[in-house]
Amino acid sequence: MKLISKQAIGIFDSGVGGLTVASSIKYILPNENIIYFGDTAHLPYGDKSSESIKYYSKKIADFLLGNNCKIILIACNTASASAYKELKEYVDNKAVVINVIDPVVQHVIQNVKSLKVGVIGTKGTINSGTYEKKIKELNSKMVIKSLPTPLFVPMIEEGFIYDDISNAIIRSYLSKDNLKNIDTLILGCTHYPVIKNQIRKFYDFRVNIIDSSRIVANFVKKILHENNLVNTKTNPDYSFYVSDYTETFEKISEMFFEHKIHLKKMDLWK
Ligand code: DGL
Repeated sequence: MKLISKQAIGIFDSGVGGLTVASSIKYILPNENIIYFGDTAHLPYGDKSSESIKYYSKKIADFLLGNNCKIILIACNTASASAYKELKEYVDNKAVVINVIDPVVQHVIQNVKSLKVGVIGTKGTINSGTYEKKIKELNSKMVIKSLPTPLFVPMIEEGFIYDDISNAIIRSYLSKDNLKNIDTLILGCTHYPVIKNQIRKFYDFRVNIIDSSRIVANFVKKILHENNLVNTKTNPDYSFYVSDYTETFEKISEMFFEHKIHLKKMDLWK
């Protein structure tokens, strides 16, 4: 199917996490139309079965294809780990499907000299072992220390950021033995850049924190250029959909997009 530049970039996540990637795309590719879908009705994805996540992802892909998207960006590590392969086959040539894990793995292999790398993410992402497998395939010497940090997503979705509660939860997880002595930490969940500065501070700024949002946005830019799909028309459109309305979602999306956002509720499971 012939894709054209003025078609939108469709982005989805379980909630606000993918906004960290969406706002980097807005910054790096300011003319692109963006359609964002936050599947807040099924949040968090991190403790769902991969069958459920595949099912949700296909429904969301249908919605984004119905809205004529040229790219479907799975801005969720959990869905990237469990649904990417199947979704790519399902979407076929109707849009380019991109996940958030492969660009980060490429970045780590090309730029990180350290051999002691930590990864934090949801239970789904960490238990899938996807980061570890993909990094080890390319550099078997790298030691990967993984830790599920499942409270971070509900904590962020509930707006616990820069306060004592979030600092205590961050300290409790990051002090665990299996993250001892790392010098690089991959934020393997698109929600986590929201608490990046708190994580940096926990480590006294001594650990290199890998935040996928900018890396993935640059990867999207590369794909658009390679396929002649960069939109050059100005005044882009940004649309935000959720499967269930939450006040925090509206607040956080306004924080990321720096203007008033009109959230539309869309039930894809009727
Ligand atoms: N932002 C999603 C991720 O990157 C969060 C998943 C969840 O809802 O648990 O994995």
